[in-house]
This record gives sequence, structure tokens and C-alpha cells, in this order.
Amino acid sequence: MDQSYFAVESQFAENCLVDNDKYLEMYQSSIENPQQFWAEQGKRLDWIKPYTQIKNTSYAPGDISIKWYEDGQLNACYNCIDRHLPEKANQIALIFEGDEPSQSYSITYQQLHDNVARLANGLKSLGVSKGDSVAIYMPMVCEAVYAMLACARIGAVHSVIFGGFSPKAIADRIVNCNAKVIITADEARRGGKTVPLKANVDEALSRDDVTSITNCLVFKNTGAQVAVNSSVDVCAEELMAKVPADCPPEVMNAEDPLFILYTSGSTGQPKGVMHTTGGYLVYASMTHEYIFDYKAGDVYWCAADVGWITGHSYVVYGPLANGATQVIFEGVPTYPSASRIGDVVDKHQVNILYTAPTAIRALMAKGDKAYATNNRNSLRILGSVGEPINPEAWAWYYQNIGNGQCPIMDTWWQTETGGIMITPLPGATGLKPGSATRPFFGVKPALVDSEGQILSGAASGNLVILDSWPGQARTIYGDHQRFEQTYFSAYKNMYFTGDGARRDEDGYYWITGRVDDVLNISGHRLGTAEIESALVAHPSVAEAAVVGFPHDIKGQAIYAYVTPVEGTELSETLTTELRNWVRTDLSPIATPELIHWTAGLPKTRSGKIMRRILRKIAANEFEQLGDTSTLADPSVVDALIENRLNK
Ligand code: WTA
Repeated sequence: MDQSYFAVESQFAENCLVDNDKYLEMYQSSIENPQQFWAEQGKRLDWIKPYTQIKNTSYAPGDISIKWYEDGQLNACYNCIDRHLPEKANQIALIFEGDEPSQSYSITYQQLHDNVARLANGLKSLGVSKGDSVAIYMPMVCEAVYAMLACARIGAVHSVIFGGFSPKAIADRIVNCNAKVIITADEARRGGKTVPLKANVDEALSRDDVTSITNCLVFKNTGAQVAVNSSVDVCAEELMAKVPADCPPEVMNAEDPLFILYTSGSTGQPKGVMHTTGGYLVYASMTHEYIFDYKAGDVYWCAADVGWITGHSYVVYGPLANGATQVIFEGVPTYPSASRIGDVVDKHQVNILYTAPTAIRALMAKGDKAYATNNRNSLRILGSVGEPINPEAWAWYYQNIGNGQCPIMDTWWQTETGGIMITPLPGATGLKPGSATRPFFGVKPALVDSEGQILSGAASGNLVILDSWPGQARTIYGDHQRFEQTYFSAYKNMYFTGDGARRDEDGYYWITGRVDDVLNISGHRLGTAEIESALVAHPSVAEAAVVGFPHDIKGQAIYAYVTPVEGTELSETLTTELRNWVRTDLSPIATPELIHWTAGLPKTRSGKIMRRILRKIAANEFEQLGDTSTLADPSVVDALIENRLNK
């Protein structure tokens, strides 16, 4: 069998929403007549006041403005819950699967409604109203979904902070979005361990500049005793019990903000990517339905955390807008054993599984343990997201998780794109392992060279998108100029993704990874600047430069070059201390894999660190360093090569 191309089987295609002819026809109409195409697609939602305007967008320098369905009114929570109730009140919405396999229960759409409405009323009783920001720092449990939808119901803007982030990261985000309330839980469970969420929030709230929070709403999760500050803390369960399970959804304009989600860029602090209501929801819902071929009755499982955009679009908004039944998984793929993913698939008869290459590689490393004791016969479609999937991991996922029968949707997208942009469709697209294949409806990708010239045919270049789509981020919260600078200044009149890609002779896209200083560690985005600033905050560090290097399981890992403060005594203990320092300051995800102490860093005469050289040395590819003659002190490079850690 040719392992480089997997054609769509005709019988499979017949049972899918879209076959190749339909894809081509719909794609063409989406590009030629976006107004008409999206006018039609907008009807997948229930609108309080129907839109008459569809697309009003500009990528013109100095006037970046993105509006979709701007005169329409709707409520995202209503679309995710209430409108399903007449037919689906007793259908399961969420199947909770706890960190411990013994913990599992289901929530119907009616129960989802009641919980969300109570929490929404609870938030209102704390003074939260339309337009206020609410921070959410939760475990991956059903209550996290309630929290997001409760905000949407009353028009509050949620900002979810991943449960693995540090008190400092929480505080920075609260200050940036001016959150009024934070919703958290006593502790999170992950892989048999606990994370002290409430204690982390307490520490964040104790910082002097964190002044906007009036209340902290605390859910019981593990039941651990936590410190209570009676002037701020409110028990979520008690509050919900006191208020009615009926809360009319707020009327929102299509362009009212739905959420802010912080993500790392190549410079400075994480930026608050802002998504609005109408276009985002149309796009999340449409992509979920078409890309996963979601049909009523299917059991869907996206294993992402709600702390990331994947959890927003493909755990909460997309699937629930489509009335789906889905698994909410609190744990990790390898706990209590490497068979967990397959076991959960069998237990809940999952039909569609969407996960990340890093999880797949972690399971691959365990031999046949992931699949020997489960059969996964219920699976029909697999998905992958977050980083390039290498062909070996693709083949392993296909053969061993999908039993050689389920097409893999390698979905390329970003926090900023709101939904999937380049992807196969199960009934339409022949697959090539490692390629995200073709654009979704309405998406106009292109490759440009460094001058911004559009390349045609088979080519490699920087990936840009030539026109707006409904799910696109509207701005960076509080800093529209940074939005323009980051995404629209490199190439005029185009959205620059920050990724490099290759297009082959069949027009398939192969994403090669970031071309900026953003790292992708286990599918998590981190900026080198953030890690460097955590490193230099340590008293023994004078200077630091961070690069990524290839890692078997994480995809990419962190290599930190660190110059000590003069007189520092270097030791194993100090190295460990520094790794833990970054871990606590930022997040365990940001922990450097390798710390290379060095007396100097390669710099140009103007003092700019030559990261290109550092990347090569970290990748153990020092034979082709390119021109080093412009360096202030070329001998630094020899010392770095000599002492390199990734041999
Ligand atoms: C990378 C995650 C290759 C890419 C949804 C992008 C991918 C960044 C893929 C966004 C894929 C995501 N193939 N690379 N299928 N999916 N990426 O914002 O570099 O957390 O720019 O959004 O992940 O990461 P983010």
C-alpha cells in the first residue's frame, strides 16, 4: 500500500456531509461570493434580530477593521443551549470523565441549561453585568463549561486562564483585562496529582496592582480545605443553590466581545486576543460540523483543555452550538496508564476523537500499551491540532488508534483565527500524512516571499491569508495598534500567520512551523521573550537567550543559553533552581529542557543576539552556521559549539 496518499473511500464519502465535488463547488462560491455564502451560513444560528449586513472588513494599512453580521443580534449561550431544548432537553450534552476512571457522569441539555442559568444569576448577584470581564481559572470539568456559557449568557466577557499557569500569569491577565470576578476551584486533578488552583488565585490577588477583582467564586472539586477570605470568596455551589434556574439571555450585537484569550507572541507580554459573538460562533459551529462530519447521535471527544483556543471553539462553542454529545476529560492521556485514551473511547463509544500530536507521540513511546487492551471500534474520524504532525506519528495514530479505518483531520489554525483554517474534510480530501491539505470554506491562504510577493504553484514561503473570515480575531484587547503591527504590517493588505509553509503540486499545504520567536512546546504556544524575562529575573542571571530545538515527544523543547552574573558559582543545584524558577514564574510548560551556561552570547556589533546561530547549535546542526563574520566576537560561537548540550 502506498503510505504517502490515502484516498477517500467512496462508500465512506457517501455517508459524509461533503464529498470532493461538493467541496470544490462550495469552496469556489465561498471565495467568489463571500457575502452570499456567509449570508447563507449565518442561518445556522438563531438570531434575535436577523442581520442584513454580512462582511465589512478592511486590511488596509492604518484601517484594520473586521466586522461580520454587524447589525445582527443574538446570544451565544442561547445558541449553545436553549434552542436545543425543545428536541434535546434529555439528550446528553456532556459526558464527564474524571482524572480517575471511576469518576464519570453525564449532563443533559436541560441540566446544562439549569446549571448555566444558575451560575449566570449568581454572577449577576455579584454585580457582574454586560461588558464586564470575568477571569476563569478552572480544572477541565463541566463547571468550566458552565462558567464560560454563564458569562456569554449575561454578556460578560470571559477570559480563561489555563490551569497550569502561575500566580504571576493570573495576575498579569486580570490586570490586563480588568476582570471583576474570578471563577476557580479548590484544586485541579491531573494525572493523579493535584494543582492548588485556589491558592494560586489567592497569591495572584495579593499582588498590589490586582485591584479590579471584587469576588472570587470557588467551586468544590477535590474537596480539599482551602483558605477562605470572607470579604472576597464566595462558594459557587451555595450561590447557585440560592438563585433561580432561569435567566433570560442578554441581547448581544454580533460584534460585541465574547471572550479574550491570552496567547504568546514573539515579543513582550502575552496578548489578549479578542473574539466577538456572531461571526465567531458561525465559524466555530460550521467548522465543527463539516470537519468532523458531526451528525446527530455522534459522540465527540476533543481532548483539549478549555484554557486554550481549541477548548473554546471545539469543546464549548462549536459542538454545543451544534447540539452535540461530547466527552469532557479532566485527565491526561497516560494516566492511570497509556491505555486511557482507548479505554475512554470504548467506555463512551466515542465516534470522533480530536487530540494533539504530542499526546500521540507520548502514547507511541509506550509501545502497544495504548491499544492492546481496547478495541476503539466506535471511532469513525480522528483529528490532530496544535503543531505539525510528523508522518511517523500520523501513521501510528492511523493504524493503532484508528485501526486503519479512520481518516485523520490534520487541522491547522491559531488562537487568532478562531477556528480551523486549513484541513481535510473527511468525505472530500485524500490525505497525505503530515499535510494539513486544503483551505476550509472562505479561507484564502497564500505563500509569500520575504518581500511579500505572492508565490504561485508549488512553493515554500510565509503563510498569509488574503481576506477575512468570520472567525477572525477582531483586535488585541486594549491595543489595536499592536494588532495591526503584529499581523498586518509584515505584508501589506494580508494577515500574516507567523507560520512557514510549503504548497505541493496538488495545492496541498504543509505547515513547517513558526518563522518568528514563538515556540510550540507540546502544542502550547510560548514566546521566547517571556521565558527570557523569567530567566533574567533570577538573581544569578545576567542575560538569557532562549530557542527551541527538536524533541521526540514535545515536538519542540526549550534550550536556554544563560550568562551568569559575575562571580556566580555554577552548579547542578543552581541549574535545577533556575529550571524550577521558570516553572513557578510562568508555567511547568515553560521549564527549560537544557540550560547552557555561557560567558557570552553571539551578538552583532549593534548588540543584537543572533538567534539563528543559537538555534542551529541547539539543534546540533553547527556545521552550517552561515555567515558569522558580522559578530562582535566570533570566538563565542566556538565555545558554544564545544559545550553544546544536545549532542
Ligand atoms: C501551530 C492552536 C502545524 C502553528 C489551534 C500555529 C500547527 C500555532 C497546526 C497556533 C497543525 C497549529 N500543523 N502547525 N495542524 N495547528 N499549529 O494559537 O504554528 O495555540 O501558528 O492555536 O500552532 O497555536 P495556538
